Amino acid sequence: MAKSPSFTCTACGATHTKWSGRCDACGDWNTIVEDAGLSAGGKKSLGANRGAAIQLTDLQTEESPPPRTNSGIDELDRVLGGGLVPASALLVGGDPGIGKSTLLLQAAAQFARSGVKTIYVSGEEATAQVRMRAKRLGLSDAPVLLAAETNLRNILTTLEAERPGLAIIDSIQTMWSDTVDSAPGSVSQVRSAAHELTTFAKRKGVSVILVGHVTKDGQIAGPRVVEHMVDTVLYFEGERGHQFRILRAVKNRFGPADEIGVFEMTGRGLEQVTNPSALFLSERGKPSAGSVVFAGIEGTRPVLVELQALVAPSPHSQPRRTVVGWDGGRLAMILAVLEARCGIPFAGLDVYLNVAGGMKISEPAADLAVAAALLSAREDAALPEGAVVFGEISLSGALRPAPQTENRLKEAQKLGFTTALAPSGGKAIETSGIKVQQMHDLTSFVGEVFGAG
Ligand code: TYD
Ligand code: MG
Repeated sequence: MAKSPSFTCTACGATHTKWSGRCDACGDWNTIVEDAGLSAGGKKSLGANRGAAIQLTDLQTEESPPPRTNSGIDELDRVLGGGLVPASALLVGGDPGIGKSTLLLQAAAQFARSGVKTIYVSGEEATAQVRMRAKRLGLSDAPVLLAAETNLRNILTTLEAERPGLAIIDSIQTMWSDTVDSAPGSVSQVRSAAHELTTFAKRKGVSVILVGHVTKDGQIAGPRVVEHMVDTVLYFEGERGHQFRILRAVKNRFGPADEIGVFEMTGRGLEQVTNPSALFLSERGKPSAGSVVFAGIEGTRPVLVELQALVAPSPHSQPRRTVVGWDGGRLAMILAVLEARCGIPFAGLDVYLNVAGGMKISEPAADLAVAAALLSAREDAALPEGAVVFGEISLSGALRPAPQTENRLKEAQKLGFTTALAPSGGKAIETSGIKVQQMHDLTSFVGEVFGAG
């Protein structure tokens, strides 16, 4: 059977049987490239060659897991699920210039200082550049072993000889192997480099951290194409105009996913933010129309963020719906529920929704806060001072209780909030110093908060 060609989207990693200008999976244009180089040959069926028998084992034989190593950067350790697991492969993705190299150099220095033999291989910068950055960050004295190299064969040989505890490869897109017949950064090169490095990590007990740039360029494969190979995937997010950076675990074989670490980019590198709620709310003034504080949960930690909405008459026949930091589809749903269940139309009105501080929210529990922000903006009426909002809205207009209600309330109270607007039902809420106004459905919410609406 002739091998059918295979095509991969460099942005999302979806595979296709034929080339097209637009990827069906993620909707990006000009990101589909043909796979080449991998798995050449393979014409014979596998049964023809007898393989070696693999050793089978059971589930309960215990091998005491080697201890995790802490970096000493708490925000990073939390996202890792309590420290770095030996012999694991990690991917740190993010937009170019967001601060991946800075974070990893700081982490490398911390690990090296705590006694882990650490090798930092830069494929993008010369050693002098990395040294300069280390000097600026005050890390010059850390015993990190540094190299500038892009040839994977040389890197693996070196790692084999040196046997470090941790190897950082910055970035996977610059690595190339002479066994693969395509340019560095192509899907096949990136995949094969990641595969070599992760198998090396497992076999030799070396933890490997791969850096991957998120790219929209069709020629260069993004980190999505290697996500499935590694144990842990972290994304470094943030808005360019803001100094806040959020490190988010989207996959973690050794800990909870969805955990976040919050950092601030300063002149001396990235600094941890131990109280993100205070940071996200720090720019907030008096309560104003369209502004609502959402009591959210990120991973295991409660985080308060401000949602801002603006509703204005639209000059266009098709009004605008613009969302930053939340899901556009979900916004459309909330608007539809408000219209159908509460009789509050948004037709002919432009709607803008923004999550302050460059934060991205994916929790359904933000529904009610979004609805509150939209209504507050539409009615030009601010919510009561000192109120937080959370809860999921179903299509029927009913409100569903959110998980970890108690943690949300505790955090709100800690930051000086006095009232919470939340769905009723769920576990009995022990209120300690914060008044919880419970509501069954969106209509009663509108009635109680905005009068008859
Ligand atoms: P960098 O770590 O090089 O990004 P990446 O590896 O993700 O491409 O970060 C580059 C940006 O960080 C750059 O715009 C300058 C800024 N920066 C600071 O603000 N302070 C610092 O101490 C450092 C080292 C970088
Ligand atoms: Mg970099």
